[in-house]
Amino acid sequence: MSDDYRQHGVQFPDTFLFGSATASYQIEGAATEDGRGASIWDTFSRKPGAVLHGHTGDVACDHYHRLDDDLDLMTSLGLQAYRFSIAWPRIQADGKGSANDRGVAFYSRLVDGLLARGITPIATLYHWDLPQTLEDAGGWAARDTALRFGDYAHHMGEALGDRVAVWTTLNEPWCSAYLGYGAGVHAPGVTDRLATLRAVHHLNLAHGLGIQALRASVTKPDVQYSATLNPQVARGVDDTSAEAIRRIDALGNRAFTGPMLRGEYPADLLADTASITDWSFVEPGDLEQIHQPLDVLGVNYYSTMRVRLWDGVGERQSADGHGASRGTAWPGAAEEIEFLPTDGPHTDMGWNIDPAAFEDLLVELHESYGLPLMITENGAAFPDVADESERVRDADRIDYLRQHFTAVHRAMERGADIVGCQVWSLMDNYEWAYGYTKRFGIVRVNYDTLERTPKDSAHWYAQLIRERAIPA
Ligand code: NOJ
Repeated sequence: MSDDYRQHGVQFPDTFLFGSATASYQIEGAATEDGRGASIWDTFSRKPGAVLHGHTGDVACDHYHRLDDDLDLMTSLGLQAYRFSIAWPRIQADGKGSANDRGVAFYSRLVDGLLARGITPIATLYHWDLPQTLEDAGGWAARDTALRFGDYAHHMGEALGDRVAVWTTLNEPWCSAYLGYGAGVHAPGVTDRLATLRAVHHLNLAHGLGIQALRASVTKPDVQYSATLNPQVARGVDDTSAEAIRRIDALGNRAFTGPMLRGEYPADLLADTASITDWSFVEPGDLEQIHQPLDVLGVNYYSTMRVRLWDGVGERQSADGHGASRGTAWPGAAEEIEFLPTDGPHTDMGWNIDPAAFEDLLVELHESYGLPLMITENGAAFPDVADESERVRDADRIDYLRQHFTAVHRAMERGADIVGCQVWSLMDNYEWAYGYTKRFGIVRVNYDTLERTPKDSAHWYAQLIRERAIPA
C-alpha cells in the first residue's frame, strides 16, 4: 500500500528544522537528586502490575548525569533542533512556590549547551510528570492544577525565556486525560469518565494560562508558542464508520483544538458526553483564557485506527494494536465504537504503518487551522538486535522514517506549511507502561552500561540532515 512512499532524493527547504525529541521522565533518571520531588510516574511505576517488569524511570538513560556527552551526540548527528521537556517536580517539588535553583540550573545548562552547538531548543513544559503532591490534591481533574501550571510556566519563562526558541505547553493532552484518567494505563492510573473530561478541560485551561504566563515572562523577541497534540486518525470499514470517526474526532481532537484554536467546545462533543457531565466545570471566561494566539501547532503522529460502531452483539472489539487501552479510554458515545485490528505491517508497539494518513492529516490540519505545523514526534519502535560491537542494523526504522519523511514532503507540496520534524526519539528510553522493552531510539542505549551507540537509522538521518534530501 505504501510502497510509493519509499522515495529518495526529495529535497527539503533550507528553513526546515531537522531534529530529534525526548522527554524528561523517559531519559533523565536522577529521580531524587537536586531537590526533585516525586512525580505521578514515580508513584505509578511502583504500582504492582502498572508497568511491564516494574520498570521505573529512576535511572532511565541517566541523561541528567550525561548531559554533556548527549549534547555532543546531538552534534555528531548534525541535529539542528532538539525537543526536550522540563520535569515540573525538578522546578517545584510540590508543584507550587518558588523555583528550585538546582532544577533550573540543569535546564539552563542544557539550553546553553544546545545554543553553543547551534542547535535550536524546543522546550515542552509538561510531558506527563505531574508533581505527585498536585495529584494528591486531585490532579488534572482539579481546577487548581491548571492554575499551578500557570505559575510553573511563569517560572520557566523567567528562567529560560531569554534563550528557548519554541515553547510547547503540553505534550499530548489526549494521553494525559484519556490514558491517565480514563483507561488508567498511564499515571495516575485513574478510571473515571467524569475525571477524564474534567482533566480535558483543566489541561486546556493550563495550556491557556501557560501561554499567557510565558508571554508575560519571556524576553526573547522571535520566540514561538505552541501546544503538541497527537491527532487521533481513524479509518473506516463500513457504513457506520463515518459516525464512529466523528465521535473519535470530537473527543480525541476537537476537544483540544476547539477551545485552544477556536475558543469553543464543539456542540457534538457536549452532546456525545451529556450522559456523563453538563461540563459545568467550564467556568465563565475559561474559553477566552484557553483561546490564545499560537505561532505553530505541534503534531505527534505514529499510526492509525480502524473503527466502526458496535452493533451491541457479542463482545466489543478493542484490539487496535494499542492494547486494551483504546476501548476503555473513550467515554460517552465513543463507548459504542469498535476498534478493529489494523492491516500490517506493524511496529513493535503493534501500531500499523500508514504514511498516507500522515500526509492527509498534515494537509487537513493546515487547511483547518491555518497554522504552521511542527512535527514534534514521529518515529517507531522495532525489536532491535545489536551485534557484538553494539551496532543495530535497523533497516525497518529507516524504512519507517523514509516513508514518513516522504509523506511530510508530499504534504508540503500540497501546501501544508511544515516548519520541521523532531524524530522520536534521540535515544532508546522509558516507554511508559512498556518500561524499557520498546526501543524508539535512533541511538541505542545499552541499559547495562548506559553506553550510547548510533544505530544505522541515526547515520541515515544524519545524512538526510546534511544533504537536506532523503538518502537513497
Ligand atoms: C508519544 C509520547 O509523547 C512519547 O512520550 C512516547 O514515548 C511516544 N509517543 C511513543 O509512544
